[in-house]
Amino acid sequence: MNITGKQLRQKWLDFYKSKGHTDIGAVSLIGDGSTGVMFNVAGMQPLMPYLLGKPHPAGKRLCNVQGCVRTVDIDSVGDASHFTFFEMMGNWSLGDYFKKEKTAWTFELLTKEFGLDKDKLCTTVFKGNSSAPRDGETAELLIGLGIKPEHVYYLPKEDNWWELEGTVGTPCGPDNEWFYPLDPAKTDPVFPEDYVEIGNDVYMQYKKTETGYEPLGRGNVDTGFGFDRMLLFLNGLSDAYKTDLFTAAIAKLEELSGKKYDDGGEDRRAMRIIADHTRTTVMLIGDKNGILPSNVGAGYILRRIMRRAIRYCRRLGVSSSAICAVASIFIEKVYNEAYPLLLEKKDYILDEIEREAERFEATLASGMKEYEKCVQGIARKNEFMAKNDPAYVPEKTIGGKAAFRLYDTFGFPLELTEELAAEQGLSVDRAGFEAAFKEHQETSRALEKGQAKGGLESHSEQAVKYHTATHLLNAALKRVLSPDCNQKGSNITDERMRFDFNFDRAMTPEEIAAVEKLVNEKIGEDIPVVFKEMSLEEARKENFVGVFDSKYGEVVKTYSIGDFSKEMCGGPHVERTGVLGHFRIVKEQSSSAGIRRIKAILE
Ligand code: ALA
Repeated sequence: MNITGKQLRQKWLDFYKSKGHTDIGAVSLIGDGSTGVMFNVAGMQPLMPYLLGKPHPAGKRLCNVQGCVRTVDIDSVGDASHFTFFEMMGNWSLGDYFKKEKTAWTFELLTKEFGLDKDKLCTTVFKGNSSAPRDGETAELLIGLGIKPEHVYYLPKEDNWWELEGTVGTPCGPDNEWFYPLDPAKTDPVFPEDYVEIGNDVYMQYKKTETGYEPLGRGNVDTGFGFDRMLLFLNGLSDAYKTDLFTAAIAKLEELSGKKYDDGGEDRRAMRIIADHTRTTVMLIGDKNGILPSNVGAGYILRRIMRRAIRYCRRLGVSSSAICAVASIFIEKVYNEAYPLLLEKKDYILDEIEREAERFEATLASGMKEYEKCVQGIARKNEFMAKNDPAYVPEKTIGGKAAFRLYDTFGFPLELTEELAAEQGLSVDRAGFEAAFKEHQETSRALEKGQAKGGLESHSEQAVKYHTATHLLNAALKRVLSPDCNQKGSNITDERMRFDFNFDRAMTPEEIAAVEKLVNEKIGEDIPVVFKEMSLEEARKENFVGVFDSKYGEVVKTYSIGDFSKEMCGGPHVERTGVLGHFRIVKEQSSSAGIRRIKAILE
């Protein structure tokens, strides 16, 4: 079958609509902070409250195609079927239909609509353990539908149980995974060696607790099929980078490098990594809650991805501007219909890529010298020791402190140092790096405490952004908590903001999420920040809020952000809220009696 990405999206949605589902569309790729997961890693993530029992406005049968970012498999990217960004075709039963309907529909879709060979399909089901029983029911249903009995495998929790790692209070359960051979030409494929997972149906009947699992009291279905992988199977390919999602990007890289993708080897791997990482970069910067590369949180992950792509440009022998060329292709030709916002944000995305590339090129040049010194130091030590002690085992590890210095002073992500080291048969002391990182954080915190209290210490670009963010936060707190909440102080560095306000209890996680959401909405609306001087009287009449009244003279400076925020303030501020990136509260705690303190970052 010949099928384009666009057709596959439609086919998935049409099939589930024909089974009574409503297309709920996709949400932002950036996690909402409610689970502590930074990115949207699964279509079910925004649906959590509904899987736990809250009625969904669109009903009990839902479907969509949702972008996801997962970086756990980043080291596998470069092969034929792994990505850091991918789309998940999903559908859900919120306590409605269950195993009988779901197995039948997945089977129908795969074999009838998509034309996959039922004799080649393999599936796995949950073997059972002390928390939940063996899923014999699903196995029987599958065999009844026509899956070969010897193609149904019972596997343990590590394989056939789905939950969001590191979370509590979230829905989860045993899953039924579907596999298809990667190479269509193989006549007698062997499971699992020759197979790749194409998707799974999770039977979400449990809730994760601190200590284990408890029954939810209802059966949900949570389905996720990999769009990018499915596209390759349906087109009879064995390489996802040969689908219409990637061919133009790869052709561009071939043109720029003068190398041939089909020659394979390291050049092909580099082309895949550049294409994958560029796509993820475009999606994260161009998202409606878009983020920018930075040294913290999600921004740091984005920076790692971008810098890895730039490194592979060097390996391929092209300049980092290749990333912009590839990004333009994704924005204009591949995702223009499914993600129209990318087109709107095109110039912004390309500018940010260029800026990060410039920053990295500059640090790379000086960092490489430092790295070489470090490696030479190890070699010299080894040489010296071996001369004096024949039994000496050569040192093959770069120390944690040295790796941290490369990170902190030269902007080398840990992975970059690890990759460079691996090329020379060395490893990096990861635990030592993390210890040095922590020590550094503690020192900075101690320094920070000693700093003069209050307000803007520096006027760096980042500090100015944080300053505008305090205005948005102040306004959001008044709306979410109480109009009586007022700013009682703030402190800004390039890395974060601290904001004190009067309120007599801890905020709930829901309130924190609501404040973050509101601030991010206002950032997303890209509202101009308007400056005006006026008399104090006028300002009061127009309901501008003053933070430290005594500071103001007769004529006051005011800043307003649409109707949302009106504050008397000396500035400086950004020109529009859109440049702030993504706002996240990292901590809410007591500061003193009746005063709460929020620490937040822009990422
Ligand atoms: N939640 C399941 C997954 O992410 C469907 O694979």
